[in-house]
Amino acid sequence: MTPATPIIVALDYPCVADALALAERLSPELCQLKIGKELFTRAGPSMVEDLHRRGYSVFLDLKFHDIPNTVAAACRAAADLGVWMVDVHALGGQRMMAAAAEALAHYQHPPRLLAITVLTSLGDEDLPALGLPNNAQALALQLARLATEAGAGGVVCSAREASLLRGALGAEVCLVTPGIRAPDAVADDQHRTMTPTAALQAGADYLVIGRPITQAPEPLLALQQLLEFCRTDHGQ
Ligand code: C5P
Repeated sequence: MTPATPIIVALDYPCVADALALAERLSPELCQLKIGKELFTRAGPSMVEDLHRRGYSVFLDLKFHDIPNTVAAACRAAADLGVWMVDVHALGGQRMMAAAAEALAHYQHPPRLLAITVLTSLGDEDLPALGLPNNAQALALQLARLATEAGAGGVVCSAREASLLRGALGAEVCLVTPGIRAPDAVADDQHRTMTPTAALQAGADYLVIGRPITQAPEPLLALQQLLEFCRTDHGQ
């Protein structure tokens, strides 16, 4: 099932009760939810089950990166939980991503497999020390190609890379972009933000948004306003 809303709210909370309280205040009609490493390490699979009971689609953002057999097994565990999306690091290599895709292919309703290309916390200048070429954007495109050829259904990328990847990889690939802010909103620690409208126009399918909703005095209102920016040209 394809969700009707492009917003994925990042449930970045150290505390299960706070995460569930936010889920109660929002609505599965208006957003999907993302569980990351911190919340999952604290709360485990029951957190996913709690959100499913409330009707949410869940992106399990654990960024698997290991040998192919281990990542395939982890992806099967995510599929058994019934999550909507799961992700792996493209730098784990073609065989690792292919093993993940193959593991999910056996499910009737598999999660969409996403690949992380280059972490946006890494700049060009960080890459040579890792033995990588000092051009994060070119590397992101190369890894996104590798990921889709290996069977991934999409990539997580900066909204700034969305139009490049959309142009190179075509309409089928799902682009999920963090670093989204309403016009005039504070950027927090995100350096290169984009508005919802600009990110969607650049080719993003889903927008990952955390603090502008989780830290808002009225999270539901903040979500509704961001959705409004997605539906109109006012978010430019
Ligand atoms: O609060 P904010 O909207 O900045 O949260 C963005 C979310 O997207 C966080 O969960 C963050 O870990 C995640 N993310 C990101 N940049 C990436 C990949 C994921 O900000 N490149």
